[in-house]
Amino acid sequence: MTLSEIEAAGWAALQQAAADPHAGFRTVTLCSVDAAAAPQARMVVLRACDPARRTLEIHTDIRSPKWAELIADRRVTVLGYCAQTRLQLRLPGTATLHGPETPTAAAAWDRLPPWTRSTYAGGPPGDERAFAGPGQPLGAEPPADGAGRACFGVIVVQAVALDWFRLQRQDNRRARFHYGPDGALTAAAWVNP
Ligand SMILES: Cc1cc2nc3c(=O)[nH]c(=O)nc-3n(C[C@H](O)[C@H](O)[C@H](O)COP(=O)(O)O)c2cc1C
Repeated sequence: MTLSEIEAAGWAALQQAAADPHAGFRTVTLCSVDAAAAPQARMVVLRACDPARRTLEIHTDIRSPKWAELIADRRVTVLGYCAQTRLQLRLPGTATLHGPETPTAAAAWDRLPPWTRSTYAGGPPGDERAFAGPGQPLGAEPPADGAGRACFGVIVVQAVALDWFRLQRQDNRRARFHYGPDGALTAAAWVNP
């Protein structure tokens, strides 16, 4: 495969993952930098991908620490690995945050199923929680359908580069791609794995 073909296939795999809960890149690691300049990483679901603009979309609770981290420092890396294809994709980029009042968040919220919406209706992520028994929050009532909307935010990552790495026994392959601010490909090269 040529550089251009593997780059296109990498983005196609990300796009497919956004539509398929069972795809290898469906869950990726979102890395950010916290207030102490320490690295932070967590799993997230890939919700959308625009291969032409080289953007990725992630949903989160705006009360979670990552949201405040990204307001202070927009630099991120998205890291994914697909066990079926033995492919690692590493995408450094810049995060743009779309809070609950924005059209982007409103449109994404409207597409969410009720059970996903309900995950935004609980207490602030990371706060201490009291439990009545295994898995049962004290005094839990089923949340109203719109209850989590004010906490729902969308993170759009504009990739500035793609580091593509395929494990192939004795013949690992690696390539690096760079993008302009609008996602246009500006450089591509094979590199030593
Ligand atoms: C498989 C998996 C998928 C997850 N997907 C998301 C997600 O899409 N958005 C999100 O905010 N948290 C998601 N989480 C929870 C995060 O990993 C993390 O625990 C939480 O967002 C708090 O992160 P923070 O304290 O760094 O803000 C997921 C966790 C797992 C295990």
